[in-house]
Amino acid sequence: MVDLFTQQRHAELCEEIARHNQLYYNQDQPEISDAEYDELFRELQEIETRDPDLITADSPSQRVGAPVAEKFAPSPHAVPMLSLKNAKNAEEFYDFDSSIRKNFLARTAELDYACEMKMDGVAIELTYEGGKLFKASTRGDGFVGEDITENIKTITDIPHTLTAPYPELLDVRGEIYIDLADFQALNRTQEDAGDKTFANPRNAAAGSLRQLDAKVTAQRPLRIFCYGIGRMQGAETATQIETLQLLRKLGLRVNLEETVCASGADEVINTFRRLQERRDSLPFEIDGVVVKVNQTALQEELGMVSRSPRWAIALKFPPRQEQTIVEDIGLQVGRTGAITPVAHLKPVVVSGVTVSRASLHNWDEIERLDLRIGDHVIVERAGDVIPDVVKVLTEKRSGNEQPIPLPAACPECNTPVHKNPDEVVPRCNNPHCPAQAIERMKHFVSRDAMDIEGLGEKQLTQLINSGKITDVADLYLLREEDMFAMDRMGDVQAKRLTVAIAASKAQPLSKLLFGLGIRHAGKNTTKILARRFASLDELAKCTFDQLIAIHEIGDKVAQSIVDYFANPEKILLLDKLGQAGVQPQGEVVIQQDGPLTGKVFVITGTLSKWSRKEAEELVEKAGGRAAGSVSKKTDYVLAGENAGSKLAKAEKLGVEVLDEATFAQLVGVTL
Ligand code: IVH
Repeated sequence: MVDLFTQQRHAELCEEIARHNQLYYNQDQPEISDAEYDELFRELQEIETRDPDLITADSPSQRVGAPVAEKFAPSPHAVPMLSLKNAKNAEEFYDFDSSIRKNFLARTAELDYACEMKMDGVAIELTYEGGKLFKASTRGDGFVGEDITENIKTITDIPHTLTAPYPELLDVRGEIYIDLADFQALNRTQEDAGDKTFANPRNAAAGSLRQLDAKVTAQRPLRIFCYGIGRMQGAETATQIETLQLLRKLGLRVNLEETVCASGADEVINTFRRLQERRDSLPFEIDGVVVKVNQTALQEELGMVSRSPRWAIALKFPPRQEQTIVEDIGLQVGRTGAITPVAHLKPVVVSGVTVSRASLHNWDEIERLDLRIGDHVIVERAGDVIPDVVKVLTEKRSGNEQPIPLPAACPECNTPVHKNPDEVVPRCNNPHCPAQAIERMKHFVSRDAMDIEGLGEKQLTQLINSGKITDVADLYLLREEDMFAMDRMGDVQAKRLTVAIAASKAQPLSKLLFGLGIRHAGKNTTKILARRFASLDELAKCTFDQLIAIHEIGDKVAQSIVDYFANPEKILLLDKLGQAGVQPQGEVVIQQDGPLTGKVFVITGTLSKWSRKEAEELVEKAGGRAAGSVSKKTDYVLAGENAGSKLAKAEKLGVEVLDEATFAQLVGVTL
């Protein structure tokens, strides 16, 4: 029997990893570094190795990546696109080497390894039929990706026709990436145009590939290195190195520069160390070395385990660290008034990117690090351009270093700041603070909110300074001439921006609600609200009690919503928005009256009669609602095979647990 703590931790990890998958794959906005993600994944795998009972079909360990996003047509992979297991250091690679030799191969005499650079980009698949590029897709969940053919066709590195003689049918796998210099230039262009900048080259590549307008992709400096194949008919290769050579002959771009065939584990580790030394002088980012059993026959013998091949492993580099000096501390005021410290660094190049700022998060972090102005510090860039300060070199202190006090006043509006004892940041509580105003506007126009492209900090500041806008509602009153009057605004851009602002009126209620920046109401909450309320007016009239009756809404969120709609300034703003034509409708899900009206279900484990989605639909048809997690508000838990922590929680809370037969009766279907 698995103990409750492990069950809980397992459920937490599943949820957390699924969320990060979504952020990484579908939104191109990861919140954590690869190393942190790997750590979570590793913990999940360790728990599942110890307690295989906990493995469910939807555990992230059983799938690669995230479910396909909805904007592109689904594109199934004939041969699944797998992921790689990671080795964090040489020792873990030696373990991998001895394990495959001992446990999985009958004969290992001719075993050698192909070592390749692990490109830090986005995996794609190209399908060539009769030598012609027929289709291109993202990896998606490993089984079904997104059809991005039109976008891929704009990439000059990728041939539309293979060089003869070519195999009749060929799936090529490779990594789309952006060179570091191109990445920095792209971010400068984005910033000038008021568009969002990218945290790192990989996000920029991912974002560029998933543009709905292929013309945008065409302007991005995307490159490819091909490294493998899926199906191949009409040609054969006996080794990975031969495959790479074949791909090159066909006219595809292959990185053979440091690709070596190593005869044993020691040679692999030497290659790894050599590459680690060269890493900083490469024009693109690599995050390790991919080591593949070279012989195709041995690869077949080794096969795969759940999501990755047993014949390959990624030897990952540790995050890049450099030493520099903290020259000053800047203060940033967020849209809710939270004041966060930022370290201004003596510029230093960390894995190809010059950095001059580091996040410090809050004063607890400053205290934990014992950081002072003038300190020598170690900064670490785990993928993103903004690094973290990981260590202070106290032994290098001269005695002139200055402590970093909590600010007494807001750096923007000079209002005395206030720190709530249970919060880690001080706040500026002046609702008219100009720094907050601009941050609120940036949030309102951002991609997850009203999604107005072409309005970044520079443009908003100009509009405010010229007195053309004082709040977000004013955006809808701007005329084309107002846009045109801005710096670096040509005719075309001004027109485009006017259209973008007008088009944003059609955004759904959930996005408007998110854009308003109601405290504690994040993306999820605003989506839930938009499914419950037909309009902003309806939500504004809702009482605290009505709000907390919604399964996912807790006291804190409910209070914050009520406060927002009671605030006279917000009432004026909403009125102004409404008059300007921003009046979205909610995405209310038809709640039919039925035997289960008002009842909340949680479905867990593997069902034998229905998929989880089908069971949820049955619940909804009968008037009930399916929720994701068990709480006091849950009425029933439908438990299938291998139900884990949710079942345990239901039992603990005394929630009624149903089997499939009882459930069928309740929802009124005959089995
Ligand atoms: S081989 C089953 N080779 O790393 C083989 N992958 O963590 C899987 N990657 O999804 C891929 N450079 O996006 C391979 N030389 C290389 C690679 C490489 C980068 C990426 C690829 C893959 C991920 C796995």
